[in-house]
Amino acid sequence: MIKVRVELRENSYEIRIGQGLLPHVGLWLKKKGFSGKTVIITDSNVRPLYAAALERGLADAGFKVTVFEIPAGEEQKTLTTAGQLYQLLAEAFAERTTLIIALGGGVVGDLAGFVAATYMRGVPLVQVPTSLLAMVDSSFGGKTAIDYGSLKNMVGAFYQPKLVVADVDTLKTLPKIELANGMGEVIKHAVIRDKGFFNFLRKNMAGAMAYDTKTLKKIVEKNARIKAPVVATDEKESGLRTLLNYGHTVGHAVEALSDFQIKHGQAVAIGMMAAAKLAQRLGFLAEKKVKQMEELILAAGLPVNLPDLDQIEKETLLELIKHDKKVRDGKIRFVLIKAIGNAFISDKITPELIGEVLFDGKHT
Ligand code: GLY
Repeated sequence: MIKVRVELRENSYEIRIGQGLLPHVGLWLKKKGFSGKTVIITDSNVRPLYAAALERGLADAGFKVTVFEIPAGEEQKTLTTAGQLYQLLAEAFAERTTLIIALGGGVVGDLAGFVAATYMRGVPLVQVPTSLLAMVDSSFGGKTAIDYGSLKNMVGAFYQPKLVVADVDTLKTLPKIELANGMGEVIKHAVIRDKGFFNFLRKNMAGAMAYDTKTLKKIVEKNARIKAPVVATDEKESGLRTLLNYGHTVGHAVEALSDFQIKHGQAVAIGMMAAAKLAQRLGFLAEKKVKQMEELILAAGLPVNLPDLDQIEKETLLELIKHDKKVRDGKIRFVLIKAIGNAFISDKITPELIGEVLFDGKHT
């Protein structure tokens, strides 16, 4: 088993990465001093596959386990579902010490994290990600959120988990489109921080997309090692952490505007390519590197251009971009790259410039 630590003083925790880990979570939590009630929040896809192994281990370690299941899908990341979970927690007499365990992908992790952060002003949270997206990004770092209207992740809290357990065996049942979805964040981490990892991905993307467990484990580990120190340096995103939003200014807007028909990783891939083209236009990035990025994104089964969806209109998209959480004093803090592995923040990028590269040759 691999352990990567997220150093946040008294809120530090480990990400444990390996195979066959689910049955051990109960004992690990007991050893960390937890006991009593625990609530697993999961969804209708993940529950039948993985809840039993986790539940058994928790029960063997002496926990009293309750499982709350939500329907699978991004539509659940709402205040309404959060409200239903508060209600269930109250009915189960959940206390301040009741552990919430998020078992699932990004939606379950973000939503259960938000509920854990707010129920009784915060109950302990453990993340057990079962999708690549959650393993490489959303399960650690402490961002919890729900969507609000068409604005993605607009309401939330920074709330760190006590432990993250990434059992890569769970990736075997992940649909290919979801593997690709997680790969968007993987490529992002490489592009902004690690040229060597970018080259590793160029060599190994085919193996990863064929579910080679060894390659996937390496990818999950490498991502944790890239993101953990960024979070440790800038937990609340006042500087360095902003770089993790590479591709997301455009990505969040595209995702929301498509009514979530376009998945997060796909939207981020489109956003990353738009940012790369902007960097090329401004003379930062060589055409060859833009091409390499494009090839890698395509090898992961992700799009490099905006699809022709009726609901994606230029003006509305650019309006949404102006609502991005990174806008300060009316200026977009846009993440660009100077080279593969070297990202920076620019306030020179206007919605109009973004529109030009995104809608290049498209009718709106
Ligand atoms: N997903 C970006 C971050 O955790 O900051």
